[in-house]
Amino acid sequence: MSINDQQTEAVKASNEKTCFIKTYGCQMNVYDSQRMEEALAAAGYRPVAAAEDADMVILNTCHIREKAAEKVYSELGRLKPLKQQNKDMVIGVAGCVAQAEGAEIIARAPVVDMVFGPQTFQQLPAMLDEIDDRRARGDKPKLVRTDFPAAEKFEALQAIARKPITRSPSAFVTVQEGCDKFCTFCVVPYTRGEEVSRARADIIAEARALVADGVSEITLLGQNVNAWEHEGIRLDGLLTQLGEIEGLARLRFTTSHPRDMDAALIAAHGENEKLMPYLHLPVQSGSDAILKAMNRKHSAADYIELTRKFRAARPDLALSSDFIVGFPGETDADFAATMALVEEVNYAQAFSFKYSPRPGTPAADAADQVDEAVKAARLARLQGLLNAQQVAFNNAQKGRVLPVLFDKPSKSGDQMSGRSPYLQPVHVPFEVLGGRDATALRGRILPVEITGAHANSLSGVLAI
Ligand code: SAH
Ligand code: SF4
Ligand code: F3S
Repeated sequence: MSINDQQTEAVKASNEKTCFIKTYGCQMNVYDSQRMEEALAAAGYRPVAAAEDADMVILNTCHIREKAAEKVYSELGRLKPLKQQNKDMVIGVAGCVAQAEGAEIIARAPVVDMVFGPQTFQQLPAMLDEIDDRRARGDKPKLVRTDFPAAEKFEALQAIARKPITRSPSAFVTVQEGCDKFCTFCVVPYTRGEEVSRARADIIAEARALVADGVSEITLLGQNVNAWEHEGIRLDGLLTQLGEIEGLARLRFTTSHPRDMDAALIAAHGENEKLMPYLHLPVQSGSDAILKAMNRKHSAADYIELTRKFRAARPDLALSSDFIVGFPGETDADFAATMALVEEVNYAQAFSFKYSPRPGTPAADAADQVDEAVKAARLARLQGLLNAQQVAFNNAQKGRVLPVLFDKPSKSGDQMSGRSPYLQPVHVPFEVLGGRDATALRGRILPVEITGAHANSLSGVLAI
């Protein structure tokens, strides 16, 4: 019996209720799922590792990829027999598909008891009470909560006690929700609502609590994290204040929009010693015509200039980005401009996607959609270039000694893994730990001499 199985058995035996949350999409959803788990813990629910063992199953969904909603419906189809076995089971759909589809989900999948969007999960305990009440009256509870009280969510987050669920030395803290940019391909402004910044004091309090629990790296999250502003302070000021927390060694933030970058945040990369030299700054395309059609409000030259300023402040900065190929109207020349931008900037890593029409967004209705085969060919070429740059960046670390924040044993179980300042996974085989207790490394930042570079990771030996 695995540890998870044992926990599940113990939970069943004690008659406690159990929950299972399946998370899709971005880190903001990961953060939200952890908060839901904590809110449910306060309501008497213990997390289990599989839907089969749970009294409550929540799918925390993402709407960014093609056929996202269809995938949720087929997952719900798989949950149906479980609910037939356990009539008390509660099934919820949360996140961005829930926000976009609303009551339609319950109409198409009657197995669902509650649908709630990214800004309403703080109402979860109240929803559960209502479900109990309605069931006691013999009703079939069907709750739909998809309004946008983001400020209420932030207040509620303060009341949810954070637990070191993962016991990782690295934690996320959401500081900003929503997006007002309306890039013409993107669903996020419709699913997450308008930009709202969380109060500075609340962020600092959450960070302090995490550090007291042993966390040494915090990543600030927001769909447009660099739009964060509160009481006249912007992100650079928040990072300075967080940097003053003793025991907090590393700070990161994601995701930034080129439009909201200011000089102070650029300077912070040279001045704030805790801020790690890694920046995810999506550009999407290198063609000005496509950037305009995407409503990005920056040109390729603006973006390249921005990356120059960052590198002037922090010469070893690792840059990352998102790209979309095959946006409606993208010509061979537009795509060549994207390749040229990649050559010019030189990325440490990146994410790239074929454009896929999202219903309800302006670009989905454009007449000049690009042929699938053309999209696939362009994506392959772009990824070839990006991968080569990533490999070159990783290779350049060979022979260097990098401070690594150790986290956990790797999946293979014979090495300890951590992250370099540039966010690369670094593996140190147990056999070269020189008799040191591998798990004692967890949460420590130690120098590692990099001896091997791979496509997606580095390996090395402790340099102490
Ligand atoms: N706020 C973030 C983006 C979140 S979505 C930002 O502005 O960077 C993550 C990425 O998904 C986007 O950067 C984009 O590259 C990709 N994406 C979003 N909508 C898409 C679509 N309709 N087709 C293909 N890729 C898309
Ligand atoms: Fe989407 Fe653009 Fe907002 Fe990013 S900035 S979440 S891509 S609309
Ligand atoms: Fe997906 Fe919603 Fe995040 S659509 S990417 S889960 S904001």
